[in-house]
Amino acid sequence: MIENGRVRLDGVELTVRTNESVLDACLRSAIEVPFSCRAGSCHTCLLRCTQGVVPKEAQRGLPLALRRLGYLLACQCRPTKPLTLTRPNQADMVTSCVLLTSAGAGETFRFIQFETTRLLTCQPGQHLVLVTDAAPAPLIEVTATRPEINTVDALMHCPSGGTFPAWLDAPEAFGHAFEVRGPVDGGGGDGMAGKADVPVESEPPAADPGLWTELGSGAIVRAVLEDFYRQVYEDQVLAPFFQKVTMDRSIDKQYSFLKQLMTGERVYFGDRPRNAHHWMVISNELFDYRQAIMVRTLEKHGLNAPQIARWTRLELHYRRDIVKSAAWPRQVNGVDQPLDGYATETLSAGALCDHCGAVIDAGTAVQYHVRLGHISCMHCASRGPQMIASGDSPCDAIA
Ligand code: HEM
Ligand code: FES
Repeated sequence: MIENGRVRLDGVELTVRTNESVLDACLRSAIEVPFSCRAGSCHTCLLRCTQGVVPKEAQRGLPLALRRLGYLLACQCRPTKPLTLTRPNQADMVTSCVLLTSAGAGETFRFIQFETTRLLTCQPGQHLVLVTDAAPAPLIEVTATRPEINTVDALMHCPSGGTFPAWLDAPEAFGHAFEVRGPVDGGGGDGMAGKADVPVESEPPAADPGLWTELGSGAIVRAVLEDFYRQVYEDQVLAPFFQKVTMDRSIDKQYSFLKQLMTGERVYFGDRPRNAHHWMVISNELFDYRQAIMVRTLEKHGLNAPQIARWTRLELHYRRDIVKSAAWPRQVNGVDQPLDGYATETLSAGALCDHCGAVIDAGTAVQYHVRLGHISCMHCASRGPQMIASGDSPCDAIA
């Protein structure tokens, strides 16, 4: 049954079916909305409501400043009343920061260095705006970024007719928490906000065959992984990433991956970490969160401190292949593959539409999402928004 979650995005009107999220309705209708976890954790699917009442659960976990501006998570939004939505504005994004250093005593600017709680996709030359009640607010001009440690070097400019915040020059300024909005393009900005730099892929770390032997030639490794993934699959923060992967598969893949890293033997036949996680938005904080669970599990299984350090060395080696603020394209033989989007394919065997469940015969053209592999019958895909808006059952023609 189709009910009235009528949504307008980019001027296209579509109906969100009962129990369907705005994100799923967009995916069904081949309307591009970036997403990663599909479970309210990563905030990649942010949209902004300009008209209508946002369901409360669609704003859960968002900073107050964004909630006030009408931001919502498309993957958590199941509207029952009409909504008009727009794409997010980079200039609205608020990030919490902690001051590390402040230097300079002039009237016009200070050199500052600060740490951010999420990866800021800003480039040198772009500006951030300090969130403050004072008007006009100081501008922070980014001079260098170190995304691997979430640190930004910048110049804070004193606004004309305004003052620096009092905490900036206080002796106890180190550790002061503040918020910034942006990035916005500065004078010399290149409009790169939102693009993630893709570093060169890591070569494997040096093997440690002794560790494999010490860990019962694999027996303790398997026991650790079974325990670890049981916790991961029950963990509210991590489980959403594993929605489509069975626990057995995760354990087996990780086991052979670690066996290869420790022994140096070629026993792992899966994606390297960069491709395996290419679509997942994983912050340093989230990476460390997973690592803390792993360390606790290693302790529980009797590994001593040096053994834990040797195990975690192997995993930490891949941090820069996994941590990112926006999805990276998957690479096959050095060639970037499409990140998201839709392709058309003629089925060689019959299948079911992943959206309406209609039977699709072999030889029929279907549209599919390149990352998820979800098939849309042509009715759901291209004619979806118009047909559904008319209130018809979407796929009578095919079923
Ligand atoms: C917060 C951190 C992490 C998250 C959320 C995460 C999540 C995932 C998920 C969901 C998969 C399944 C992908 C699929 O089968 O389609 C996966 C696979 C994998 N992950 Fe992670 N992972 C994290 C960190 C790590 C780390 C630190 C390593 C080790 C260096 C690692 C190594 C792997 C490997 C080897 C696979 C198997 C790739 C394959 O299926 O071919 N992951 N990870
Ligand atoms: S929060 Fe919606 S896709 Fe992650």
